Formats: sequence, structure tokens, C-alpha cells
Amino acid sequence: MSAPELFKLPYDRVSPKDKQSFAYTTLVKRWPVVLTNVVSAVSNLNHEISMQSDNSKEAEEKLEEGKRIISQISQMKYDMGHNAALTPIENDGDINRECYNDELKIYPDYDRRWSTMNWLFAECYVYRRLRSYFASTVHWKDYDPFFEQKVETYKSSSTAIVHLAKAMNQAVEEKEELIKNYEKPGSALEIAFMEMIQADLWGNATDLSLLIDLKYEDLQKLQAVGAAAQEEQAKFILRNDLSKAWDHLKTLKGGRVDIVLDNAGFELYTDLILADFLASCTPFVDQVIFHPKAIPWFVSDVLPYDFTWAIDSLLDTSFFASHASTPLSPEDLASLSALAARWKRHLNSGRFKLSVPENTKLGKATPLGRFWTTQYSFQDLPEIAPGTLQELRKSDLVIFKGDLNYRKLVGDAWWPTTTPFEVALGPLAGKITLLSLRTNKADTIVGLEEGIEERLNKEAPDWRVSGK
Ligand code: F6P
Ligand code: MG
Repeated sequence: MSAPELFKLPYDRVSPKDKQSFAYTTLVKRWPVVLTNVVSAVSNLNHEISMQSDNSKEAEEKLEEGKRIISQISQMKYDMGHNAALTPIENDGDINRECYNDELKIYPDYDRRWSTMNWLFAECYVYRRLRSYFASTVHWKDYDPFFEQKVETYKSSSTAIVHLAKAMNQAVEEKEELIKNYEKPGSALEIAFMEMIQADLWGNATDLSLLIDLKYEDLQKLQAVGAAAQEEQAKFILRNDLSKAWDHLKTLKGGRVDIVLDNAGFELYTDLILADFLASCTPFVDQVIFHPKAIPWFVSDVLPYDFTWAIDSLLDTSFFASHASTPLSPEDLASLSALAARWKRHLNSGRFKLSVPENTKLGKATPLGRFWTTQYSFQDLPEIAPGTLQELRKSDLVIFKGDLNYRKLVGDAWWPTTTPFEVALGPLAGKITLLSLRTNKADTIVGLEEGIEERLNKEAPDWRVSGK
């Protein structure tokens, strides 16, 4: 097969070559922590297995495989620290292996090393290579090394979760009132929409690959919900097209919205809140399709199973108990179950739909689920995954959640910050109607007014990556 014709970026990609970049910080400080955490998770399980008194042959095999995974991860960490060349991913029977190996071949030796490689490729490669260690075993194939972390942050978000559940249930109850005069600027429905969509935007600030650097108080602030908190937070939005999104949604009747998901736990919950609002409280949208990842990805991204447990946990009255600062009241619990019951009805009726079967095994996605865990930018969607693009073209609005999706939309390049978003989208521009909801956690950014970059460089030097 001939090599794909990829979009030629007019600017360099972000790379750890630049020691001022967040890519560099990621290489030297953050990936090692992510990998060490995976080693700890596997070691803990191995320890549990070795403590069992009646160890079967299967347990022995699992233990040995666990040890091999630990040594492979340690090797990758060592390679990173010693600027080794990235090596081809071994045959592990999972999807999306050749695309990484084929691209690796085209780089000259200097550009194929951990400290000089482009960041987007290298970071996607980290998670694909990590996956291959698990995929090539018998007993760890279905294991998500980040699962416990995802559950922990979901549990620690109960205050915001309950607040949003109550707001959402009330909106559904008052639906008839809410939609009166919705065409008018500043209608009750528009105000409610702005609240739900901003909660969904800030939900992105809480991803686990970044929480390494984020304090708990910061997290609470970012999860602040309610009109006043939203107004306060709105000042931090550097590029705000939500009114345009609203104007577009208002033109729809029984339309379809797609959400290219980012993180599990609280962020996914806010995605579902927005989806519920659109599907239950407005006449604009009849169906919301959610696109998860096929392999454990950037620590906290949604896998098919994460979608299921996020909803089921809301029906489990003890789920949040261990983390809530004050125990949830019977009224709180009733709100959560009413919400979850409605979401289950939406799933049964097809109003909510996961783009792949819910029981899809890790690393085995259908064609529609594959593209998101390749290394490719979305500028290359038309060339690389025309089928996925064709499917997205059926949608009235595709919402891309989060920082990595944003990096991929603009190719993770050093665009001048005033470059129009449509220009940075390259060949994807005009092909689908899209909205990106992203909190800044990486160097690349476009679409800013003149002067903003200069002001922020003075006032908040970490503005590109702080998530705030
Ligand atoms: O470095 C921060 C980071 O890990 C980036 O590498 C990545 O773009 C981002 O966090 C993941 O964030 P999100 O979950 O919003 O895509
Ligand atoms: Mg993520």
C-alpha cells in the first residue's frame, strides 16, 4: 500500500526538543510518573496473587506475565531517560499497530528519538506501546491499568455530581416552561444550555494525566457549578463560540449530535449531562452518539466499559459513600437514581448510543472505533479514515472534547495564536460542523484575538498548559 498523503503543516510540531515546551516537561517529569503508577498497579496485583495460598497454574502464569510487563515498562522508562530511538511495536494482535510502525520508518534517526520526536506521535506511541505489553499476554489482555484511578476521581467529585443531577432533573421537570420563547436571545433555555455546556467544558480540566500537577482545591474550583460560579469561570474562556453553537443548535429539529469523548469519570458525567439536556429538554436533538477509545489512553480516557460503569455507579447507593465529605442524603441518592434511570431509558430507546458495542474488548474496536487511538491528526481524517468521516458527516454537530482532541484538530503545531481555527483544521475544514470544548493543557493554540497571547505571557506565564 502506498504511504498516505498527510496534511503538510506550515509550522513545526511541538517537540521536547524545545526545552521551554510542555512537551519537554512531559517527557522528563510526567510520563515517568504515569508509567511508575502503572508499575505500582501491576505490582500490587502481583503481590495479591503471590499471597494466595492455593496458587493454581493460571495464577503462576499471570504472576510471570505481570513480572514481564513490569520489566517492559521499566525498559520504556529507561529508554525515555536515555534518549533511545523509539522501537517498532511488536505484534500483539491488537488494532493500530502498523500505522505507528510505518510512520516510525519515515523518520531519520535524529527525529526518531525520545527527546527529539514530535510530541503528538511520541505521546500516542507511549499508550499504544504500553497497551502492547498487556495485549500480548493471556491473563492481562482485558486489564485497564488506569481503572482504579478513574474510579477514584469520579468518587471524589460527588458534590458537583449531585448538584448537576438536581439541576438536570429540575430542567426536565420544567421542560415546558423552559422551552417557552426559546428563540429569543437570553431565553431561559439558552441560559440553562450555557450552564450545562460550561459544566461540560470545565469537566475537561479534571483529567488524570494532568492531576499529577493539580491541587485538590484547584479541582474543586474547576468543578464549581451553578450560575455564579459559571459566570466567574467564563472570564477564563479565551475563545468563546458558545453563542454560535447555540444559534446553530436552535436551527435543528430532531437532529443528531456526536461527542468524541475524552476522559472517564467526572468529565464523562458532564458529557452525559449536556447530552441529556439536549435530548430531553430541547426539540433540537433526538440522538447523541458517544465515541470512546479502543485502548487505555492518556490515563483517563473513556473506554466502552467506562461508559457503562459511570451510569451504573449512580444507581449504587454506596458508591460515593467513602469519599463524600458529607454523606449523600436520601434526596441526593434519589436524584442520582432518577438521572441514571433516564439515561438508561435513553440508551434503550437509541437516544443515547455508544458508537461501538458496549462489550467491545480492549484493542478490538470496529472500524468506527479505530481512528481515535491512531497517532494521526484529525486534519488527516479525510485521507486516513474516510469511513469515519462519512459517519460524522451524518451528524449535525460533532463535539470534540478535551485537550488531546484539540491538539489533533490543529496538528499540535506551533501556529501563530491568531491563526483562524478553520485554517488550522486544514483538509477537515468545512467537512463537518464541529465544536471543540478544551481547557488548555498543551502548547498549541489558535483562534485568539490579537494581543491576548502577549497579555497572558505577562500575567500568567503557564496559561497554555495550566488547564485553567
Ligand atoms: O500533557 C498534558 C496532557 O497529558 C497532554 O499530553 C494531553 O494533551 C492532555 O494532557 C490530555 O488531556 P485531555 O484529557 O484533555 O485530552
Ligand atoms: Mg484525556
